[in-house]
Amino acid sequence: MTEITAIVHNCLEDERVKEYKEFFETKAGVKGLVDAGVVKVPRIFIHPPENLPKPSSEDSCCIGLQVPIIDFHGLENGQRGEIIDKIRQAAETWGFFQVVNHGIPGSLMDDLLNDVRQFHEQPLEVRKEWYSHDETKKVRYYSNGFYNPSMAAQWKDGLFCIGAQQLEEEQIPEVCRKSISEYVKHVIQLKETISELLSEALGLSSDCFARAGYMKSVSLACNYYPTCPEPELTLGIASHSDPDFLTLLLQDDIGGLQILHQNKWVDVPPVHGAVIANLGDFMQLITNDKFKSVAHRVVAKRGSSRVSVSSFFQPAFSDKLKPYGPMKELVSEDNPPLYRAIGVAEYVAYFRLKGLDGSSALPHFRL
Ligand code: OGA
Ligand code: NI
Repeated sequence: MTEITAIVHNCLEDERVKEYKEFFETKAGVKGLVDAGVVKVPRIFIHPPENLPKPSSEDSCCIGLQVPIIDFHGLENGQRGEIIDKIRQAAETWGFFQVVNHGIPGSLMDDLLNDVRQFHEQPLEVRKEWYSHDETKKVRYYSNGFYNPSMAAQWKDGLFCIGAQQLEEEQIPEVCRKSISEYVKHVIQLKETISELLSEALGLSSDCFARAGYMKSVSLACNYYPTCPEPELTLGIASHSDPDFLTLLLQDDIGGLQILHQNKWVDVPPVHGAVIANLGDFMQLITNDKFKSVAHRVVAKRGSSRVSVSSFFQPAFSDKLKPYGPMKELVSEDNPPLYRAIGVAEYVAYFRLKGLDGSSALPHFRL
């Protein structure tokens, strides 16, 4: 870089940082921009063209290919073996599957999505009380929480609850308190079922993951993707894979979630009452690449706002420095470990530093 371009570059960076800061200071989130009537996406939200959805349908083709839908009804009716086969296939190829008849009451899921919408749509004076970028807070409302200001911002607001199973009801905003507390109990149960099935799908005993403590704690991201005036310029969430072991996701009926499958972006269509399961980077790491953590993103939409709730499963907070590597049962002389053991805290620190640039954080830890 010449001196003059370096100066211009720095000025632009300063300008971006300033715009970010001003945006954060409103404490109104992306929703606040929409309420203020913006008709253009502010510059900090504009993503590089190569990361944006292509204008034509050439982007999301794979017609006939669909994220597997797995019915858990058969678990009680002698179909456990078949279900495990389906999970293994999905985990090895898609890294994603949708579960129906999973035992979480449909009315509770509807209530949760409605209550999360209510939280994000309540008057600014009420919701701004929760707005914070202080990451030690167990419950906070934020936008672009940990993203690097030199990267494009996401067209999304969130209400994040860390260690959700340990929160007292009073620590959760009133409008969504009841449904969040109730949902957390159910989603933990579903995680236990899926964790057993995944262990068995690897040929291990069903309590293997539970004994290792891989998914002992859960954090909830209650996401709100406001309607967007120029959806072709930004993203709800840029391409990423999750830095956890397992994510269970609820989405409303708007759609917008896409996953990268065989190098094409494939829609994950809303299935009312289904829970989406996706494997995180640590699942790929401990299974030594047998199971896949797959890149996904959320496209922005004109005309409707979207709500989703992600439950991220990770080891207990007290184990955040404990290193996790490929499971010894899954490696051998012919199949040596592909990754070094790594703690969740170190992994997440690198994930944040790298930012959502479309690449995976995993290769950084490959041996
Ligand atoms: C996430 C995520 C997808 C969605 O929170 O990591 O990928 O549909 N969410 O909100
Ligand atoms: Ni994700």
